Amino acid sequence: MDHFTPDLLNEIREQFAFVDKCPFSGERIFFENAGGALTLKSVVETSSKFAAIPDNQGRSNAASKALMDVIQKAKSDAASLFGTTKGQFFVGESGTELLFRLVRNAASSADMGGNMVGSSFEHPATRSAAKYWAAETKRQYINVQHDDTLGHVTADHYSNIITPDTRVVTILHASPVTGISVDLKKISEAVRSISPEALIIVDGVQYAAHGGIKIDDYDIDGYAISPYKMYSRHGYGFAWVSDRLTQMQHEQLLDGPSENWELGTRDTGSYATLSDVVEYLEWLGEKVESTNNRTKKLTNAAKAIAAQETSLTELMINGEDNIKGLKDLEGIQIIGGEKNPNRKGLVSFRIVGSPSQEIVDFLNVNGIRTHVRKADHYSGNILNPLGWEDCVRVSVCHYNSSEEIKSLLLALNEFQMKLPTN
Ligand SMILES: Cc1ncc(COP(=O)(O)O)c(C=O)c1O
Repeated sequence: MDHFTPDLLNEIREQFAFVDKCPFSGERIFFENAGGALTLKSVVETSSKFAAIPDNQGRSNAASKALMDVIQKAKSDAASLFGTTKGQFFVGESGTELLFRLVRNAASSADMGGNMVGSSFEHPATRSAAKYWAAETKRQYINVQHDDTLGHVTADHYSNIITPDTRVVTILHASPVTGISVDLKKISEAVRSISPEALIIVDGVQYAAHGGIKIDDYDIDGYAISPYKMYSRHGYGFAWVSDRLTQMQHEQLLDGPSENWELGTRDTGSYATLSDVVEYLEWLGEKVESTNNRTKKLTNAAKAIAAQETSLTELMINGEDNIKGLKDLEGIQIIGGEKNPNRKGLVSFRIVGSPSQEIVDFLNVNGIRTHVRKADHYSGNILNPLGWEDCVRVSVCHYNSSEEIKSLLLALNEFQMKLPTN
């Protein structure tokens, strides 16, 4: 069953472009949200509006001032959304580019020597950056091995590895392969209890669409997201950086303002679409409870999103009435297990004996878009230790419905019926 009432779910779906139709392939159910969430219609409109404006920022004219105001507003909206009153936000080319920039600057400005720590749980964005910059700065890179069974990594795992001279630490907030999130506050506390001055850089790309982010609670130095995975659009990444890292030496224009992280002319439209995301979430929070308190609205939206997504993934795994859930399909194996309280809107599984590509192709033909993850440089860190060559990834967002999940289950049941053993 959906957490949202049918009317509210319809209203929510109405806010997004291409909810049930792909402009290339026609009607489809969209379960590829971890590859890129649906885009808000307001974002589409805002993007085209700002794409048409020729003016640059920092000029003495009305258009330029309006653009600067839009950027300022977006930064203040982001502070509310991501729960922080400190640090600063800036845009970059992508989530990957921003994570590289944060890790590179952290590694270059931390005291010489010591080590850098990251986990096998992470996406290559942080892992590649941390390994590269550990080598460049002549430090040892030490791996925190994640837990295969639960599909995540814990504060205890980090505690066993961190040393008093750990300079830079990377953490993945939620995995796009296992779908499981970590307790970021606890991991950061564990790191700081051993190495209080370590610079902590967090990849929030997969986590962002699925629950509230509270940067001030985490005591970290960098957090990056990819707005196209949070109802905005492709073309930019969005990062937060702590005052501490800003005060350390970091890349910037010669003789420019020392606190600046923005390099070059900014796309005002990208900032403006971030404000659209915040406005949408406020609208959703207001549907849950009428209040003038912005933080409350955003918190309520995050809770409602989590509740809807949990009901969808539980339905997917357990099934309903006479529709078999994933757990009852023959030969099925689910990463992170059937019951995992830290699951964030994503289930990856395989059916032993059936190549995952065949399942994804079958679902595609039946109008259901999912994705195959292979043991390559993106997902090998999760799949290789399990001894898996691939898996099917079904990633949902709060605008998906239980009806769509039931269609997925019926299609998977049909797939099994077609297998030679049946
Ligand atoms: C957890 C995680 N980190 C980083 C990235 C890279 O983001 P981008 O495509 O914006 O570079 C992804 C993309 O899938 C991701 O899932």
